[in-house]
Amino acid sequence: MKTSIGIIGSGTWGMALARMLANSGNDVEVWSAISSEIDEMLLTHKQRNLPFMNIPNSIQFTKSIEKVCEEKDIILFAVPSVFVRSTARQARSYIPNGQIIVDVAKGIESDTLLTLTEVIRSELNFDRNHNDIKLVALSGPTHAEEVAKDIPTAIVSACEDIETAEIVQNIFMNTCMRVYTNTDVFGVELCGALKNIIALAAGICVGLGYGDNTKAALITRGLAEIKRLGAQMGCLEDTFDGLAGMGDLIVTATSAHSRNNKAGFFIGQGKTAEEAVHEIGMVVEGINALPAAMHLSEKYRVEMPIISAVNDVINHGENPRKAVNNLMQREKKTELSKSVSDIDFESTFLTYRSKSMKRVITYGTFDLLHYGHINLLRRAKALGDYLVVALSTDEFNWNSKQKKTYFSYEQRKQLLESIRYVDLVIPEDNWSQKRTDMKEYHIDTFVMGDDWREKFDFLKEEGVDVVYLPRTPEISSSKIKHDLYDANSVAESKLSHDDLDTDPNKI
Ligand code: CTP
Repeated sequence: MKTSIGIIGSGTWGMALARMLANSGNDVEVWSAISSEIDEMLLTHKQRNLPFMNIPNSIQFTKSIEKVCEEKDIILFAVPSVFVRSTARQARSYIPNGQIIVDVAKGIESDTLLTLTEVIRSELNFDRNHNDIKLVALSGPTHAEEVAKDIPTAIVSACEDIETAEIVQNIFMNTCMRVYTNTDVFGVELCGALKNIIALAAGICVGLGYGDNTKAALITRGLAEIKRLGAQMGCLEDTFDGLAGMGDLIVTATSAHSRNNKAGFFIGQGKTAEEAVHEIGMVVEGINALPAAMHLSEKYRVEMPIISAVNDVINHGENPRKAVNNLMQREKKTELSKSVSDIDFESTFLTYRSKSMKRVITYGTFDLLHYGHINLLRRAKALGDYLVVALSTDEFNWNSKQKKTYFSYEQRKQLLESIRYVDLVIPEDNWSQKRTDMKEYHIDTFVMGDDWREKFDFLKEEGVDVVYLPRTPEISSSKIKHDLYDANSVAESKLSHDDLDTDPNKI
């Protein structure tokens, strides 16, 4: 059966995909917001920026957004990131609930921090009648110029619903296009937006006259900082090692086709960002993505030195050569993403596996560490040979437990690591990680204070013993905070009383 596809946007990527999908036997109809573009393509059978590509006769063009959305198996959004919201709004009343929509634009909206599939969803479901739209992000190392020449290419179809991701995989897969699926839509979109900024950085370095070493360093360390942010935001590591992550970053940062790379080159050669964009004559998504990237880096407190250096150059007039010097002279770092204690854990684990070491885990905030905590940790350790403490992060405490800790995560971690009963401290950043932790850390016994009695019995399904130890009476972090607050109030009121006593104007 033929698949009917509506394509919204007739830029280079939209048209390269339109040609490919038409050539593999699908019914393709294309809409553009600029009606003169349609007239030109109807007349010349060419897309202006892909002059070597002939547009197949079977492709239909329409100037009606209603028509392009009508009775389609899938609708493809292929407009520049800044037009995604307004276009989705324009199309809303013509798109039925349950429609599969594939977005190929890459970016993050700077004021809302939404990815583009989230932007489309928020616009379409604005009327609450589109709660079952299936959104797919299609992303990867895919220059339109090469897809237009049938050069072998691989891409990722990402949707939370794997079956929809597979439907799109089937439609887009052909002898020149290999499609992989992924369910980590957010991770795929994060990679797609941020890699453009690293490509700008790579272009800037070429413009400055630096070589392949510099470019390789930027790609590698650039990916490390994108991955760091992704990890904080709950994305999957596989995504960053995959086509939308490493793949797209390599192609964008090294290819002559990349507009971001080219724009960076002009900037490295001394042009301003505006002049570079003017020279390119098309949208430079890396520049548009900068405000959102800076927001996210701040919000999730993730250090992103390369992205921040590009932001300084583009938005604050920093000299590019100076920006590179600053990056080279940052404080010394390790390449290891795990802490030394995690690595120690892994090697200890390997050494002791054969001796069937018994592993225990417990969870908590452990703020203002007190003897109640120590009692719990001592008894937990006594239940096995190796004690893992999953320590609630500051964000998790604040967002999910409405708790503001006195000590930061790092400070609480340091305190726990120096207790002799504790072998490893790992972060707890959501309620649902417990099941995976049991497997990942090969846990035998799960321990909590008995204020949590019965709450975690479901972990028995993971094959672990669940033990609730009696709490130590009369002490808790909250109580310490209360007592200190009360003591302080008494001291203050005593002080103001004493003031009154010595006040000569007192009646
Ligand atoms: N715990 C305990 N005895 C106490 C206090 C805590 O056994 N007197 C245990 C809790 O049951 C939990 C672990 O220590 O298993 C970590 O608890 P946490 O919530 O961090 O400590 P609290 O002091 O109870 O903190 P808060 O008052 O903020 O709830």
